[in-house]
Amino acid sequence: MPPTDTAPEAPTPEESEDAAAPAEGVSTEKKGARKEDGDGAAAALPHGDAPGIRFEKVVKRFGSNVVLRELDFAVEPGERVTLIGPSGSGKTTILRLLMTLEKLDDGVIWIGDDTLWHMDKGGRRVPANQKHLHEMRKQVGMVFQQFNLFPNMNVLRNLTEGPVRVLGASKDEAVERARGLLDMVGLADKENAHPSQLSGGQQQRVAIARALAMQPKVLLLDEVTSALDPELVVGVQDLLRDIARESDLTMLCVTHEMNFARDISNRVLMFDQGQIVEEGPPDRIFGEPAEQRTREFLQAVLAS
Ligand SMILES: Nc1ncnc2c1ncn2[C@@H]1O[C@H](COP(=O)(O)OP(=O)(O)OP(=O)(O)O)[C@@H](O)[C@H]1O
Ligand SMILES: [Mg+2]
Repeated sequence: MPPTDTAPEAPTPEESEDAAAPAEGVSTEKKGARKEDGDGAAAALPHGDAPGIRFEKVVKRFGSNVVLRELDFAVEPGERVTLIGPSGSGKTTILRLLMTLEKLDDGVIWIGDDTLWHMDKGGRRVPANQKHLHEMRKQVGMVFQQFNLFPNMNVLRNLTEGPVRVLGASKDEAVERARGLLDMVGLADKENAHPSQLSGGQQQRVAIARALAMQPKVLLLDEVTSALDPELVVGVQDLLRDIARESDLTMLCVTHEMNFARDISNRVLMFDQGQIVEEGPPDRIFGEPAEQRTREFLQAVLAS
């Protein structure tokens, strides 16, 4: 895992929390990559208690570059939101703040009824300590554009390391859940392979399973198919569509793929220059964008 995708205060590859939770009934295979559900898909996707997310006047700077300017937005519990916007506008930064991979400069981020970067001390809101960050971070899983699997571990261990080290699961429990997830993502036969022995699409499916192994309530997806060869995109997108349909996870997804965004999300946020430009249902944003900035952006995406 590149150092920049590692939370400063915690997860080394051995302790990474980029992971997340399993799936009962994540549907049957459509493209021949995954198997029918069965006893193997033992783990159940979370249902019912996913928290919402709220950004309140969030500021993030890199030196003099102000990337988020008092950004306000919310994702409701169980809602699936896609974030679109130009390159360099700060979409990944939003996700990395939620993963605590970047530090907040100002404002407040809520996950459910708790603040992520702050905690209550004697009725005052103070910066969170490591324990608070650690507890909050457990709720959030992320899948990265570049997979970020642990290269020195086989597939099974990529999925069991976080649950054992971070969640305190027993090894047997973690292995059982991992095997259920690998079955779900159609890679039951690859548990002993190392990431370098897998295709990009397979690596990304392992990364999704690894995120779910940590049983998150919020799942963040950052352009998860943009590093894949075109023929591998469909399998990964189908898997994520199934997960979106079959789970109650709150999802925040960055993608330029409009059909995928339409299928996966309830709402699209157009983001630029540190602020939300407009938002609405995918059909409205993609079909009849109200703002000139959105129209220009969508034309540029379509032309690329
Ligand atoms: N670690 C960092 N140090 C300095 N600047 C950074 C860092 N990470 C991001 N930035 C800057 O913050 C801005 C937002 O970057 P970010 O990666 O969030 O954009 P993005 O919207 O995800 O872009 P893309 O669509 O290309 O992935 C950019 O100007 C980028 O150069
Ligand atoms: Mg990005």
